[in-house]
Amino acid sequence: MILKDKVGLVVGVANNKSIAYGIASACYEQGAKLAFTYVNDSIKKRVEPIATEFGSKNIYELDVSKKEHFEALRESIKKDFGKIDFLVHSVAFAPREALDGEFIDTSKEAFNIAMEISVYSLIELIRELLPVLNDGASILTLSYLGGAKYITHYNVMGVAKAALESSVRYLAYELGKRNIRINAISAGPIRTLAASGIGDFRLILKWNEVNSPLKKNVSIEEVGNSAMYLLSPLSSAVTGEIHYVDNGYNIMGICATEDKDGKVQVAWETKGKENKE
Ligand SMILES: NC(=O)c1ccc[n+]([C@@H]2O[C@H](COP(=O)([O-])OP(=O)(O)OC[C@H]3O[C@@H](n4cnc5c(N)ncnc54)[C@H](O)[C@@H]3O)[C@@H](O)[C@H]2O)c1
Repeated sequence: MILKDKVGLVVGVANNKSIAYGIASACYEQGAKLAFTYVNDSIKKRVEPIATEFGSKNIYELDVSKKEHFEALRESIKKDFGKIDFLVHSVAFAPREALDGEFIDTSKEAFNIAMEISVYSLIELIRELLPVLNDGASILTLSYLGGAKYITHYNVMGVAKAALESSVRYLAYELGKRNIRINAISAGPIRTLAASGIGDFRLILKWNEVNSPLKKNVSIEEVGNSAMYLLSPLSSAVTGEIHYVDNGYNIMGICATEDKDGKVQVAWETKGKENKE
């Protein structure tokens, strides 16, 4: 049991399709004791049975836009566990209208919301929880390729992910002095609540499946297993990394595929058909 006697806080479970659920599950299987947060009362109803499933009674309110929630969270953790060994930040949000149409039309308000909820929340969460993080603790956040490359409709969330990935590097240096590590997983596209807000998400999923070296999409179980490694002492020399868990899609440049008769096809010849499936 790789995470036996380790305690972790998982921020960002909305339901059992959440990437954070996959991460919690993999950590639980390796013996971790878990605590969860919920953003509001309607999500609380979903998180309660999930916490029970993972043998946990520890669920705390955290809306990352509310400063007072961070302090209450820290005090609850202190009371219930003393200190924790790992922290999962699996939170992102941008107004729906900013994830469709053109990036140039992003309003200042949507830009600020995306940056506050999806990026600043990581910095604030770590700063507020530092007193309850154990020596050797590991932190993980979730990114997407749209932070490094143009992805259709990802728009302001791409800019937020670029800032998130840069924040991971700055935080890694400073946390290193305290013997705390931080990494990000850049996951391939997965059908979740958050993803349902992204325009043409079906196309993004299909494109990834057709063009990635492993010819499939990733599951939350696969992201969970990679996350478990990064959250555990197995990765004790790894920090500041953006680790792709995307069936290799990020390595691709130009890609031609072969059809069942061995005839070379290019993506634009297959795209239309697959999107109608
Ligand atoms: N689904 C994908 O294709 C994909 C791919 C790569 C990275 N990611 C990233 O994974 C992370 C988790 O997303 P997911 O796809 O599992 O979707 P999800 O909807 O299951 O999780 C998003 C979480 O963010 C939380 N959240 C939103 N606003 C919040 C706030 N103000 N305070 C606290 N929590 C708040 C939601 O409650 C939810 O639990 C996000 O950072 C997302 O960008 C997702």
